[in-house]
Amino acid sequence: MSEIQALTQQALADIDAAATPDAIEALRVALLGKSGTITGRLKQLGALPPEQRKAAGEAINQARDTVSTALAARKTALADAALDARLATETVDVTLPGVDAERGGLHPISRTLERMADIFGRLGFELTEGPEIEDDWHNFEALNFPPHHPARAMHDTFYIADEGGEGRRLLRTHTSGMQVRYMLQAVADGSGPPLRMISLGKVYRSDSDQTHTPMFHQCEGLLIDGHASLADLKGTLVEFVRAFFERDFEMRFRPSYFPFTEPSAELDIAWQQPDGSTRWLEVLGCGMVHPNVLRNVGIDPEKYTGYAFGMGVERLTMLRYGVDDLRAFFENDVRFLRQFA
Ligand code: FA5
Ligand code: MG
Repeated sequence: MSEIQALTQQALADIDAAATPDAIEALRVALLGKSGTITGRLKQLGALPPEQRKAAGEAINQARDTVSTALAARKTALADAALDARLATETVDVTLPGVDAERGGLHPISRTLERMADIFGRLGFELTEGPEIEDDWHNFEALNFPPHHPARAMHDTFYIADEGGEGRRLLRTHTSGMQVRYMLQAVADGSGPPLRMISLGKVYRSDSDQTHTPMFHQCEGLLIDGHASLADLKGTLVEFVRAFFERDFEMRFRPSYFPFTEPSAELDIAWQQPDGSTRWLEVLGCGMVHPNVLRNVGIDPEKYTGYAFGMGVERLTMLRYGVDDLRAFFENDVRFLRQFA
């Protein structure tokens, strides 16, 4: 037997004995790789005397073809065997109950926001949105806040760092700045007054207790026309409370003060306590739009009057679902949230 035949025999025996795809790959490299045995023989052909080259070349090429065919065949055989083994052990039990996809649900605050947009939408209020980072002018100045009003104090409001002075920016403390933005836009594009809008969104204050969180949501409402009155404001809010709770809640309008409304009031709703007693929970502030605010946005207060309100979305949600600590809405405890889904 020639040397190349012996080499081929040995290679075929090794391939036959290889038990894994890795072993096959190792053999391929050792035989046919760049520095493989058979490749080495091909490289040495040039050193042979010319009359021997042709026969030796044919023998080596044949050995290479035989070996590579054997490698491929063994590789396929191993893969087939592996598949057969899997098919034999992995069975599908078609009688097992299916795996249901986990169902999500809307956060209770999102539900309230949707209800508000829906109820006021039916009353003809246009839904609008605005920036959570607001400037001093829209949040305070245009709303008739005097320079040293306590709401402007550093300890009540989150200011953006390194911005002092009049143009300073802050996380809006209420959605009332949207009254200003909406009226300016309406005057600029000639679409109003008369106008009606609501604006829903996040607001921020340095507050935290059972009925206060540092981030909460408000629903701002504004109506401006030629004859709006306090009676209209009251009627709209009473109608809203009925539609929102779907039952009668005891409520009271309490005189209050806001720089941007005159007269002003707050609405409290009777809040049943676990011990059977009742507490009043303030849910919103409201009033007739102050003439100075109308002047600041270019609306003539001799021709137009209006009312505005700002609701606490979390407070109304607490009352609707009987939740006694407002902070629970933001703890993300699924056991709590699942009750509303
Ligand atoms: C205002 O923010 C006024 N902008 C409301 C307003 C609008 C008055 C238009 C007149 C005209 P007040 O600070 O009272 O008002 O807040 C309004 C409501 O937000 C409160 O009645 C309460 O329901 C809710 N609220 C206030 N602070 C918090 C807080 N930290 N966490 C949760 N809810 C709050
Ligand atoms: Mg208040």
